[in-house]
Amino acid sequence: MGKNLIRIYPNLSAMSQAAADFFSKQLKEVVTNQDIAHVALSGGSTPSTLFQLLARSPYKESISWEKIHFYWADERCVPPDDSESNYGQAWQSLLSKVPVLKQNIHRIKGELEAETAAQDYIYQLRQNATGDLKWPILDYVMLGIGADGHTASLFPGQVNPAETKSAAIAVTADYLGRPANRVTLTPLVFNSARHILFLVSGENKAKALSLVLDGSYNPPHLPAQRIRPVNGDITWIIDQAAAALLNNK
Ligand code: 6PG
Repeated sequence: MGKNLIRIYPNLSAMSQAAADFFSKQLKEVVTNQDIAHVALSGGSTPSTLFQLLARSPYKESISWEKIHFYWADERCVPPDDSESNYGQAWQSLLSKVPVLKQNIHRIKGELEAETAAQDYIYQLRQNATGDLKWPILDYVMLGIGADGHTASLFPGQVNPAETKSAAIAVTADYLGRPANRVTLTPLVFNSARHILFLVSGENKAKALSLVLDGSYNPPHLPAQRIRPVNGDITWIIDQAAAALLNNK
């Protein structure tokens, strides 16, 4: 694994601003070097401030949106216009406001039955596969962490054998009453990525974050520990409330 950088900011607004600067600077390098970028967005509430920032100047003008392919780390099995849709959130707060090409949006079809949506997503990923892989090497993956240590829709105590074979799987999980049926990318895809950007905010995440970063290695119960990009880096952009229990803060 490459670098594992931890950056702590006073609050969600400051960390989102730092994430916007970080993301746009890094993306500029990627599209300069390879003329196209593959980016997976996460869902949940934490990235929404970042999405709103990226939809405004200077990022709206400075980022080469037409050169970016968008994917999702996971999705809840709800229609795209549902308030619980990760795609819907990203579309409303960002993608509908910037010149991204429609054909470059590779969303998980949450309106389908979970297993059907997972197979459809696997097919979409294969259309943009890198080399011998069955999926694209993602240049950027945004991820969050749940208060239970889950990330994307990889939940504690749920190690699905299919995770080691398929790029995406269907899962069912109970978390804060959010939609249970979901589709998620697997560690196969995350760990072939070039850069993972974890965004973590709020005191309710402090315990899980301290276990993930400072605790013993226990990936079955701390799924965020399964994210270890083989040839990639991890950057943690977190706020002080989430960092409260970290050893080195
Ligand atoms: C989802 C997400 C999930 C999210 C965490 C944190 O679909 O729910 O992808 O993994 O990142 O649950 O969610 P919050 O940012 O809302 O705390």
